[in-house]
Amino acid sequence: MDNEKKFARTLVTTALPYANGPVHIGHLAGVYVPADIYVRYLRLQGENVMFVGGSDEHGVPVTQRARKEGITPQQVVDRYHKIIKESFEELGISYDIYSRTTSKTHHQFAAEFFRKLYDDGKLIEKTTKQFYDEQDGKFLTDRDVEGECPYCHHPAAKGNQCEDGCGRDLDPTELINPHAKDSDHPLVLKDTTNWFLPLNEYEGWLKEWILEGHKEWRTNVYGQCKSWLDNGLQPRAMTRDLDWGIPVPVEGAEGKVLYVWFDAPIGYISNTKELCEAQPERWGTWQQWWQQQDTRLIHFIGKDNIVFHCIIFPTMMKRRLCDARQCAVQRVPEPRGRQDLN
Ligand code: 2FM
Ligand code: ZN
Repeated sequence: MDNEKKFARTLVTTALPYANGPVHIGHLAGVYVPADIYVRYLRLQGENVMFVGGSDEHGVPVTQRARKEGITPQQVVDRYHKIIKESFEELGISYDIYSRTTSKTHHQFAAEFFRKLYDDGKLIEKTTKQFYDEQDGKFLTDRDVEGECPYCHHPAAKGNQCEDGCGRDLDPTELINPHAKDSDHPLVLKDTTNWFLPLNEYEGWLKEWILEGHKEWRTNVYGQCKSWLDNGLQPRAMTRDLDWGIPVPVEGAEGKVLYVWFDAPIGYISNTKELCEAQPERWGTWQQWWQQQDTRLIHFIGKDNIVFHCIIFPTMMKRRLCDARQCAVQRVPEPRGRQDLN
């Protein structure tokens, strides 16, 4: 952290936990308690600090839980958002706001954020082939496809990774005898169009901003960013063929939603907005917190969240909102295996 700089305000965020189960001790020890201690310290110092949290209510983990329990994704997130929020309250985690990504404010804000990128021609439209279940009439996510690993021949490799075999990252089309994970429905490969963020165009900026400008980030965070940047970035899909999430606000994109890792970090901004709109005299405007150079932004996250907070979210903001130079000092717990937030 650059101690020389003077900041007018500090915004502290904690990774939004998926509302598909309760929070556990690893989450609390690694992210939420350290963030709370830090925020309480700043408040005692008389600093202008805002502490933002919320539940991450979209994405495949929620749909998987719903399928397992035979209920709807909405019922899943209603149940777990309440449980998680109450746990934080009972533990005394002193959020200024703890909201959720199914809120109206968030849906509107995230959709507008995407639409602005789209209107400004900053997203790439790409058609790829994806497995489709004709019986259910839906595309399958990579990890919902299983088959034999083409490398180690493990019989049940997932479409995104050979998790229980050689560990290699996979494309589902590489699998031998691909089939749906949860049914014996036949699969076909079908064209689908999605929108990609051209991270590759931002490599130069990210190198300068992170590798030159943020040498103070924790060693594991800096190292992971450096390795990503050294290996070269690729355009990354920001939409998915899924029926749970924020609908892609583009004509003809029915049945597609924003990728959960696109909308979740925007949740930090929409939750700030919700708080500012509820108490403008106390908090001012969300733009002050997110677009001014004298805001210090600190994310408390798990190690699996590094690339999203250090590379993808800053690029989204650079493209859409602001020059993200003022943003982000990362605080990540040291690796702790399965205890990490995921
Ligand atoms: O890894 C996780 O649990 C994600 N739900 C964290 C999201 S953090 C942010 F971007 F919202
Ligand atoms: Zn394998």
